[in-house]
Amino acid sequence: MKLLLINIKELLQVRETTPTKLYGHQMKELPTLKNAWVFLKNGIIESFGTMDNIGPQQGFKTLDCTGKIVLPAWCDSHSHLVYAGNREQEFVDRINGLSYQEIAEKGGGIVNSAKKLQETSEEELFKQSKKRLKEVMRLGTGALEIKSGYGLTTEAELKMLRVAKKLAKEFPVTIKTTFLGAHAVPKEYKNNKEAYIDLICNEMLPNVAKEKLAHFVDVFCEEGYFTVHEMERILTEAKKYKLVPKVHVNQFNSIGGVAAAVKYKALSVDHLEVMTDEDLEVLKDTETMPVALPSCSYFLSIPYTPARKMIDAGLPLAIATDYNPGSTPSGNMNFVVATACIKMRMTPEEAINAATINGAYAMGLSRTHGSITKGKTANLIITKPIPSYGYLPYAFGSNLIDCVILNGKEIK
Ligand code: NIG
Ligand code: FE
Repeated sequence: MKLLLINIKELLQVRETTPTKLYGHQMKELPTLKNAWVFLKNGIIESFGTMDNIGPQQGFKTLDCTGKIVLPAWCDSHSHLVYAGNREQEFVDRINGLSYQEIAEKGGGIVNSAKKLQETSEEELFKQSKKRLKEVMRLGTGALEIKSGYGLTTEAELKMLRVAKKLAKEFPVTIKTTFLGAHAVPKEYKNNKEAYIDLICNEMLPNVAKEKLAHFVDVFCEEGYFTVHEMERILTEAKKYKLVPKVHVNQFNSIGGVAAAVKYKALSVDHLEVMTDEDLEVLKDTETMPVALPSCSYFLSIPYTPARKMIDAGLPLAIATDYNPGSTPSGNMNFVVATACIKMRMTPEEAINAATINGAYAMGLSRTHGSITKGKTANLIITKPIPSYGYLPYAFGSNLIDCVILNGKEIK
């Protein structure tokens, strides 16, 4: 399978060799080739260049991209795309004055989604999740992380991860999975949280590992959910199964989760809406990627991650959707990129870098995804004719994607 894209107005994120991640000052630059071509062979980026040095064009399909911009498909490093039903009623409750935390305290929130998921068959869960995955692929997502965490029983957690694994098998999108048994304390364990953590450590983790269902482990480290100490216990146990941490920290409160995650060599720390100077400092010179989730801040009307401050302090930053039924019922990475610019004062270059190269890093996919580099997976977005790439976040309400190519093939 060979495909040649020609007359590309601007080919974005062109890198001879990929940096594994981009730090603050490096994020300002987005290397671009004007009037370019790119050649895809067997699902891989084979070569690229400018139209003045294009070779023979016979023997394979050619796509004319006159006026269009081509960029690597989005790398969405944080999602909960596998879930059952929706929480539309809680959305209305919030409009009517209840807070996200108040809803959770009343038995809504994550445990509400868990109840729905436990009652949903694996087949039906796959059907609902497949629909969402197809939608995000058409919106330009080429690599995606999917978490469990709406099961909260061994059986239901395994069901979620099996569904995510099946999606990975059946669709041309690259999927990494994360075990998030410590997402909330189920009702039955309300007065005995330790017993639930025992269940995670003694039953869930061994079974997840036995079936090879997850690459990563996550904990929602937050007041009312799991303490730093409890997170550390789970991360220590997960290490025995070689599960690398990627954790939810500092969504509402800074309780020391960032420092603990760094200590456990987390690949990423996600949310970070509330950041103290110590939290920021502790991330410097580490392998841990901070991840902001701007659509979550938008939907819950909570503070945005202080991206400007973090980037200016030299930290790398990735942005992701957090696609889930409670805090972010949207998997649209184009909206994430636009919101990062509009609400977090990231430049278009910074936002695109955060959603490609740095997103790939936060999933352990730096070698294969996130840039236009020879030998990488042929995952590309072709835009409609637009004036320049800054127009993507600028015209935030329009769908500016003409076509998405995953593994070298057009997505219908
Ligand atoms: O990342 N914060 C924790 N978990 C999810 C939302 C959970 C929910 O409300 O269903 C998040 O925002
Ligand atoms: Fe999340």
